[in-house]
Amino acid sequence: EQYQIKNILNQQTYLVGGELKPWAGETSDVYSTISSTPDYKPTLLGTIPVLGEKEALDALNAATLAYNKGQGLWPTMKVVDRIACMEKFVTQMKTKREEIVKLLMWEIGKNLGDSQKEFDRTVEYIYDTIEDYKQMDRNSAKFEKNSGVNAHIRRGPLGVVLCLGPYNYPLNETFALLIPALIMGNTAIFKPAKHGVLLISPLLEAFQTSFPNGVVNIIYGRGRTVATPIMQSGKVDVLALIGNSKSANALQNQHPKSNRLRLVLGLEAKNPAIVLKDADLDLAIEECIAGATSFNGQRCTALKVLYVHEAIVEEFNKRFSAKVDALKFGNPWEDGAKLTPLPEPDKPAYIQELIDDAVAKGAKVINKKGGETTENYIFPAVLYPVTKDMRVFQEEQFGPVIPVVSFSDIEEPLDDMAASNYGQQVSLFGADVKTLAPLIDTLVNLVCRVNLNSSCQRGPDVYPFTGRKDSAVATLSVHDALRSFSIRTFVASKDN
Ligand code: G3H
Repeated sequence: EQYQIKNILNQQTYLVGGELKPWAGETSDVYSTISSTPDYKPTLLGTIPVLGEKEALDALNAATLAYNKGQGLWPTMKVVDRIACMEKFVTQMKTKREEIVKLLMWEIGKNLGDSQKEFDRTVEYIYDTIEDYKQMDRNSAKFEKNSGVNAHIRRGPLGVVLCLGPYNYPLNETFALLIPALIMGNTAIFKPAKHGVLLISPLLEAFQTSFPNGVVNIIYGRGRTVATPIMQSGKVDVLALIGNSKSANALQNQHPKSNRLRLVLGLEAKNPAIVLKDADLDLAIEECIAGATSFNGQRCTALKVLYVHEAIVEEFNKRFSAKVDALKFGNPWEDGAKLTPLPEPDKPAYIQELIDDAVAKGAKVINKKGGETTENYIFPAVLYPVTKDMRVFQEEQFGPVIPVVSFSDIEEPLDDMAASNYGQQVSLFGADVKTLAPLIDTLVNLVCRVNLNSSCQRGPDVYPFTGRKDSAVATLSVHDALRSFSIRTFVASKDN
């Protein structure tokens, strides 16, 4: 009862230049694929403004003016005062927990526990960022003297940031970009993700009242109408985006100086698990279940291909598929619901295409429930044997389908990883230290994080989060993001 939608949320304002501007123009309906009725009819959650080019450019101008060539109130503000603004914001944000958690469940189908975790993790991230920023300021605002030149070194902002977050972490990952960008003295234009857009509404007033005018501007609308003119203006200094490389490339290329633009990007990944023949099978299976199925595989860090040694693959498949079949599907607030409705209405059909393609090329769905569908869901299908010619091997599925590949020689998965366009993380399962040690040394040169006998994940947020090749540009973490959104500058003087 407490999680049912009683009123729809009509977002009738947007935030530009410190004003919550009323909007009477075109609007767009926001639906949830979760149905309140047994006929699977999507639920109307609310409406959002569909702004035009003029409003987008107003937001850009407000951000540019607030930055004001680096002499605006925000970029020149004392560290303690900037922190006070951030603390004011997070204090207000905490009062919105229940509302935001409920919207997370309805808008993106994330289960209750994970929705609460997303909210709490974000609050913690803000506090940790504040602490790290204090530390950074203490350490970096110092004098150095080398070869007769004195330097007063400090970190400074980069300018205006366009910030776009993903639907799978519409609060947490968006804020993992926005918060460090702001605290470093940049100003921002922020467009919420398509799914997870309404859950930003409860925060609009907190943004408005916590930061000086124009520091944060929040806009809505179609990317080509609002983001394109902002990029084409050439006035954006940083493109901060977590999502897919197609959107990132398109936006980058719209900037007149695209190859000089600072990029902070978190993009696709195809993280593999490698299960060696001496692995603790219970542990490997448990971790692969969590890694491949949590939030229905809609995580950039999800395990998206499982390489299992041929000596144990049969046993692995039998036990792994039984465990997948035992996972409970339900609405996000239901007890024990591990699998939940997919927010993108066309996702089940896409996953079915991948399954059909693999089956046509010789794979089998090896779990009993694999591919069972309802209107808003498709049960995770475990596919075996998967080969390189299959789409499920080549594409980032970002959903409930799990390819299993058997290998006899470790060079096989290593060759695939070297040939892949991605390089975020890997999970390695094995017991013999003598085998593992050199392998780990190789794997860290192919990806950025090797998870030993555990599934892939971004957190804890103090660890660097990045990727090689098409997986990322720049590094996010509490510590690294502050550096990604700033530059070291100094004032030099000579001893006379
Ligand atoms: O979708 C990509 C996220 O960075 C995954 O984060 O590993 O904490 O779920 P996570």
